[in-house]
Amino acid sequence: MPNKTVSVWTDNHFWKRSAAWVTGFSAILLIWLTFDTMGQITQGTDVDMQKDAEGLYFSKRVPSATVINYKIGYEYSDKRGHEVPTINGKETFFGRDDYSEEEAAELLHLGKLGSQAKNCMNCHTLLGNGAYYAPDLTKAWLDPKWKLMMAITQKKTREEAMAEFLQHPSKYPTHARRMPNLNITAAEAKGLVAFLKHMSAIDTNGFPRNFGKKDTTLRERSAK
Ligand code: HEC
Repeated sequence: MPNKTVSVWTDNHFWKRSAAWVTGFSAILLIWLTFDTMGQITQGTDVDMQKDAEGLYFSKRVPSATVINYKIGYEYSDKRGHEVPTINGKETFFGRDDYSEEEAAELLHLGKLGSQAKNCMNCHTLLGNGAYYAPDLTKAWLDPKWKLMMAITQKKTREEAMAEFLQHPSKYPTHARRMPNLNITAAEAKGLVAFLKHMSAIDTNGFPRNFGKKDTTLRERSAK
């Protein structure tokens, strides 16, 4: 059929060539995205932190473990259109504000291991991943309710109140559902609180939205 024009849509060569181009393009895009992501999620160093401390925002999405030496905030950025973790000078953490990079990393590591060993994700979400039985813990460090918890537990600092709660959660219920006692030791609690403090400083593009701005506890809501 030499004179018959074949529609391009029914031409096998066209589809083969298209498939090759699409596969090639996607492969390049994925490689580029992988490298871009690696850069975005690489943990910063203490040197980055010290430079950042002169401004308001973190230069790394995932800051150094030494972020536990600093006061963290969560403020609306007009430029970004959502809340962003901020750095507001130094603050003590269990009585010290001079944890070295190694010491802070060790504490964070202990917290990570603890969170895995006690399976916090079985009930909570961390950075949005996990179960929906209990509140998301991404910004738990920044929860305004720790002020109240400091009064209830008679602790002077937020980290001490959190550690006390983690060791005896059923003694201090704050939501309608109660967290069971997981036999967390004082050392583990310290690591877990460091882990939670560090996580609250991770730039999550504003997730969770409006954290701490509205009623966070079921009990407060049902009391209204
Ligand atoms: C069996 C389910 C369960 C497991 C496992 C669990 N939790 Fe909880 N957790 C809860 C519930 C339910 C609440 C809410 C109750 C409350 O606040 O009294 C809660 C509350 C919390 C809060 C307070 C959050 C806030 O801002 O109100 C923190 C912090 C917390 N858990 C940390 C942890 C950590 C860290 C682990 C792992 C070591 C863990 N939880 C494991 C069920 C669980």
